[in-house]
Amino acid sequence: MGASAKRIRLDIETIAGCSASGPGTNRLSFTPEYWAAVDYVAAQMAALGYERETTPHGNTRFRKRDADRGEPAVAVGSHLDAVPHGGRFDGVAGVVAGVEIARLLDDKGVRRGRPYELIVFAEEEGARFGSVLAGSKALVGRLSERELAQMKDAHGTSYLEALVASGARISAAPGGECEPPNVASYFELHIEQSLVLEAAHIPIGIVQAIVGLRQYKVSCAGVANHAGATPMHLRRDSLAAAAQAIAAVEELAMASATGVTVGTVGRLVNEPNAANVIPARTVFTIDLRDTDAAALDEVAEAVLERIQRIAEARQVQARVTPTAESAPVVLSSRLRDALIRSAERQGIGYLEMPSGAAHDAQEVARVTDAAMIFVPSIGGRSHCPEEDTPYAATALGVDVLLGAIEEASVRTA
Ligand code: HGY
Ligand code: MN
Ligand code: MN
Repeated sequence: MGASAKRIRLDIETIAGCSASGPGTNRLSFTPEYWAAVDYVAAQMAALGYERETTPHGNTRFRKRDADRGEPAVAVGSHLDAVPHGGRFDGVAGVVAGVEIARLLDDKGVRRGRPYELIVFAEEEGARFGSVLAGSKALVGRLSERELAQMKDAHGTSYLEALVASGARISAAPGGECEPPNVASYFELHIEQSLVLEAAHIPIGIVQAIVGLRQYKVSCAGVANHAGATPMHLRRDSLAAAAQAIAAVEELAMASATGVTVGTVGRLVNEPNAANVIPARTVFTIDLRDTDAAALDEVAEAVLERIQRIAEARQVQARVTPTAESAPVVLSSRLRDALIRSAERQGIGYLEMPSGAAHDAQEVARVTDAAMIFVPSIGGRSHCPEEDTPYAATALGVDVLLGAIEEASVRTA
């Protein structure tokens, strides 16, 4: 019996209800709505005999009570935090896929082979503490607890303070270090591949490589002055400088050697933000991505150099702070082949493709074999309330995952 679109629908719609008010899904890490979503997943897993563990860096892991904690697992993971006004499927589809796999494995009776584990990574979107993939980076030792203690939200609360203040029952890591991943094979099901699968009328994407990304915060400091009385040549306008820099991000990304670099300025704060005051301070984010590390470096360098040139010409101060980086990764050919065999055994069409979105899998891939599959997004939309995926398509993705997980669970000599 295959994955149940009905159960998947109930899971996704229940988790969609765990959201703060506002359009779409609003669920920042460690908020009450975040833990309500984790609690729902934990209840589903507890019914199957899985124990919940909250790690010192905020991830939530589920293993069978009687599983050998020492043995590296075959794991499925994703995230439950969302971008502001996000959709119902981003991250959630992957976590729900992990729950449905646990149900299907249970239906198959006693398990031999490696233990199965579900991991919910915290702060994948970086929407609360400003740094994407924070939980998975911490799991693989690329973010220390000291660094987590320095990452602050808009109210000045740090990642670790928020975790502890939320009342999470944190398991003590041996020696206070971050938990070792202890995963032999990692799989992730996701959306976030734009129109590719829908346009190709293919139900499954098998991910070959995930983009590298660089994120920055740029603070432009000018001089506030009167919008009417100040002649143009006497101005030090932080927003005008930012506008030129923002146009440069688009221009330089589009001119990159690979032709697939993407550059986005998604967030901007302007002060004092009054119609008749020349802006004094403008802060904006930059997000650059490419699957080619050299091209990403080249565009990043060109953007930062251009920003300084614009600032000098306008006598504005520009301070650039890197806020996140993740190198591109090629995913495990061993696990990709297992996914291909599973799809072919079941007569399910698939397309091998790169991922333009960043995912926890790219951090897990730095310490163990990791692979990903995509399911289609209707109209290609994600990171917005309109985000939608047919439940039957998600169920098909789970069926492909299950075949590969069973293969990866076999203990090699
Ligand atoms: O930004 C991303 O690609 C992902 O949605 N965190
Ligand atoms: Mn996302
Ligand atoms: Mn995501």
